[in-house]
Amino acid sequence: MWSHPLLLAIPALYILHKSLSRPSRTQKVTHDEERVLILGASSGIGRAIAEKYAKRGARVYVVGRRQDQVDDVVLSCRSLSSAGTKNTILGTAADFADADDLVNIRERIQAEWGGLDTLVVAAGVSALRPLMEVAGVETNKSGSSLDNASLDGIRKASEIASAAVHSNYIGPLMSAVTFIPLLSRTSKAPSILLISSLASVIPAPTRSIYASTKGASLLLYQSLAIEHPNIAFSHVLPSTVEGDFRASAVDAGPVREANPNKHGLKREYVAARCVRAVDEGQRTVFLPGTMRLGHLLYWLWPSFVERQARKKYNFELR
Ligand SMILES: *[C@@H]1O[C@H](CO)[C@@H](O)[C@H](O)[C@H]1NC(C)=O
Ligand SMILES: *[C@@H]1O[C@H](CO)[C@@H](O)[C@H](O)[C@H]1NC(C)=O
Repeated sequence: MWSHPLLLAIPALYILHKSLSRPSRTQKVTHDEERVLILGASSGIGRAIAEKYAKRGARVYVVGRRQDQVDDVVLSCRSLSSAGTKNTILGTAADFADADDLVNIRERIQAEWGGLDTLVVAAGVSALRPLMEVAGVETNKSGSSLDNASLDGIRKASEIASAAVHSNYIGPLMSAVTFIPLLSRTSKAPSILLISSLASVIPAPTRSIYASTKGASLLLYQSLAIEHPNIAFSHVLPSTVEGDFRASAVDAGPVREANPNKHGLKREYVAARCVRAVDEGQRTVFLPGTMRLGHLLYWLWPSFVERQARKKYNFELR
């Protein structure tokens, strides 16, 4: 059966397709020419991505909220960097949802590097509690409650959700508005990478605020990809990743899933996969890859996926 000519033709066609396709991004923008801005680079996946780019000789600009953390990443990137010049690794402590901060960063990039090739949007916040709990309403296992939400409770829910929207949606939106023209004008092969989440496409209990705000920015970037075909957009959707991302939860909620540091995806692996997605111009990357099917399955058999989600987050009906 394997000698069937049609089956042999498939690899041959694939190789032909590869060799006829346009030059790859890494040929147009070589590793040591690449100018990379990483928003949310002070810790986690963003930091690991910054170090990978520094290691292979790129110019790297790291942005994070805390000055001490930014200084630390800049030092680490400088020590890893194979490029020698002094303006190779830059850093600023800033809020990526602040217009003044973004414009300052853009001006510095223009002045120091004359342009930008790759924008990595890795900043964001987590939220870990069910919405009604955020509003101070107790519910039983089937989701019923005896009390109404109080005025304060409704305001509290709005406040927490606004903080999540600010970081998970408005930040990515303002970054896109600020840097799309610069990327388009100054790069031979502009790319934008959004670190999204599996929660953007597969709903989960205790993630109502997180999932909906991450989902909003994913749809935003997927739409921008159509509005700006000159830019290669990549969206990476990891499941639980090791590390302390959850400690930043805007609702101060508890971690309910099995220890993410033992069971989560390795940060290094996720970062390497992100860099590859940009190099190869891949639009959507699920991590692990089988989760692409989990996403499809949700539309075909929601109750099954919902049951798995309840289990993962210890939210089972007893
Ligand atoms: C939850 O509360 C509702 C209304 O008070 C009640 O009808 C239901 O049986 C309760 N369910 C559980 C699982 O306790
Ligand atoms: C909830 O609000 C409704 C309408 O304001 C009111 O009629 C009802 O009594 C309230 N329920 C409780 C349990 O406070």
